[in-house]
Amino acid sequence: MDPSHIRNFAIIAHIDHGKSTLSDRLLEITGSLTSREMQAQVLDAMDLERERGITIKAHTVRMMYKADDGQTYQLNLIDTPGHVDFSYEVSRSLASCEGALLVVDASQGVEAQTLANAYLAISNGLEIIPVINKIDLPSADIPRTKEMIEKSVGLPADDAVCVSAKTGLNVADILEAVVHLVPPPKGDPEAPLQALIFDSWFDPYKGVIILARIINGRLRKGDKIKVMSNGRQFDVDSIGVMTPKPVVLEELSAGEVGFFVATIKNVADTKVGDTITHVDRPCAEALPGFEDIKSMVFAGLYTVDSHAHGMLRDALEKLRLNDASFNFEPESSVALGFGFRCGFLGLLHLEIIQERLEREYDLDLIITAPGVQYNITMTDGSKLVVDNPSRWPDPSEIEQIDEPVIQAKILTNEEYVGNILKLVEDKRGRQQNIEYVSETRVMLTYELPLNEIVLDFYDRLKSVSRGYASLDYHLAGTWISPMVKMDILIGGDPVDALSIIVHRDSAYDRGKVLVEKMRELIPRQMFEVAIQAAIGSKIIARSTVTAIRKNVIAKCYGGDISRKRKLLDKQKEGKKRMKRIGKVDIPQEAFLAVLKVG
Ligand code: GTP
Repeated sequence: MDPSHIRNFAIIAHIDHGKSTLSDRLLEITGSLTSREMQAQVLDAMDLERERGITIKAHTVRMMYKADDGQTYQLNLIDTPGHVDFSYEVSRSLASCEGALLVVDASQGVEAQTLANAYLAISNGLEIIPVINKIDLPSADIPRTKEMIEKSVGLPADDAVCVSAKTGLNVADILEAVVHLVPPPKGDPEAPLQALIFDSWFDPYKGVIILARIINGRLRKGDKIKVMSNGRQFDVDSIGVMTPKPVVLEELSAGEVGFFVATIKNVADTKVGDTITHVDRPCAEALPGFEDIKSMVFAGLYTVDSHAHGMLRDALEKLRLNDASFNFEPESSVALGFGFRCGFLGLLHLEIIQERLEREYDLDLIITAPGVQYNITMTDGSKLVVDNPSRWPDPSEIEQIDEPVIQAKILTNEEYVGNILKLVEDKRGRQQNIEYVSETRVMLTYELPLNEIVLDFYDRLKSVSRGYASLDYHLAGTWISPMVKMDILIGGDPVDALSIIVHRDSAYDRGKVLVEKMRELIPRQMFEVAIQAAIGSKIIARSTVTAIRKNVIAKCYGGDISRKRKLLDKQKEGKKRMKRIGKVDIPQEAFLAVLKVG
């Protein structure tokens, strides 16, 4: 299609501000879906996504729209996820657009994530169209929302499109704005092929599917292509777009976005951010690409049943095919046996992987306390990168520890500022800035150790602000900090999988709360069990699970065998979620107890 009739745009919004609902409306208006096919939130394809209402993978949909000027335009809507854990996917999606709708909930106003993504879009040179959503709500405040957009994002908001994605009111105006305000893609269909990979995933039937933006040239079925970073060559088997149903096409040309399937077996061969060109008429240079995604949070993954280890490995390999941001390597624990050290983007990413493993692969998992990666300089001058407490070196040989630090922006209402300041100070935060972005909304900018965030920061932030705070963060360097390894001893034996890295000054308090929490979580056994927290050989906290002699059948005096069996089954079920370590049965939750004691 003639690039002057193409518009590529994304929707950026804070979670729950209505991005999915709005996408559905746009599809409906352009007739991309008949009402019969219409199903809530078609863009969130995966079951899990639908359940959590979170868009994990970026998708793109092509719509044909007949505008008021009588011309038909090809509108490519590039979906973006709304959670901080996935903000790297937002920046990739933006690289393939010329414009973005900035959706703001009229009853909530601008949130931290909205701001972060808006800045990202501005720095990518995108045309931004402010859209104020949920104007049907009685609590909608359009003038205030406009003012916040102007003050905090720095965009004129007089012409913001005010809509209700729910009722469909004014939604058609958005399409007109896209046609008139978003610039058409530049690019020459006759130049050598230059295409940017902005997403890829593994389909068990088709192999690797690649989502690409054609910058210059044309991509046709049967073409011989190569990946510029590694020179690997592939044949293009099929090309298409989502409407949102997949539709097969003959070609994609400059300015267009779509997917293609080639003879690619491994996602790693075609990294997101790579440039694709033709083998026989290559382009001169690769496109700028994207930064590598870095894991921020690390945890050990083990199966409750040690025989299931092989199944876990297979499952992890399959998941990695789909998710390049997730990585793992084998590790072993004295307490838990063979398992894997996994790297995640954040806690939500960890939860999603955990849920998929348990749900899709029917695995019973034990996850060790999530932690971050430390750079350690040893007294002999050598350097180590440690993300696993069990690899923590002998403290007498450590010269310096550098821990990762984030810059966090928290947007909240003024009445919660006091509570939040206390929380971030507790979490070793250092204030950088506090400013009013509207009469009652305050933006706090803080540096915080990532280690403190991965524990229970989100939950605490939500509870101290009654939900009226949003958070966005990015990695911002390191601090030199006196971190120590805290071991947990159960029945006198250290359990390696329970060790965590903490700041020296908070070790005593953490230790105390942690052993107390463990005492609640570990069921009483036939004998007394001591739970201790220790730094090196020094015990810093202790509690005891008192002994019990429990006979579940004793209660059933009659001869009712089925009742007895039921009770025994119930007890067996209880056991399944336990891991026997030494003589003690430790429930799954105990390994994550550290998350609940921040
Ligand atoms: P994520 O996928 O989690 O990023 O959320 P989202 O931004 O896609 O939000 P979603 O479309 O799932 O909408 C969140 C909630 O707001 C849902 O319960 C919607 O029904 C509701 N909602 C969306 N648009 C409107 C609107 O215009 N008016 C009202 N009253 N509710 C709306």
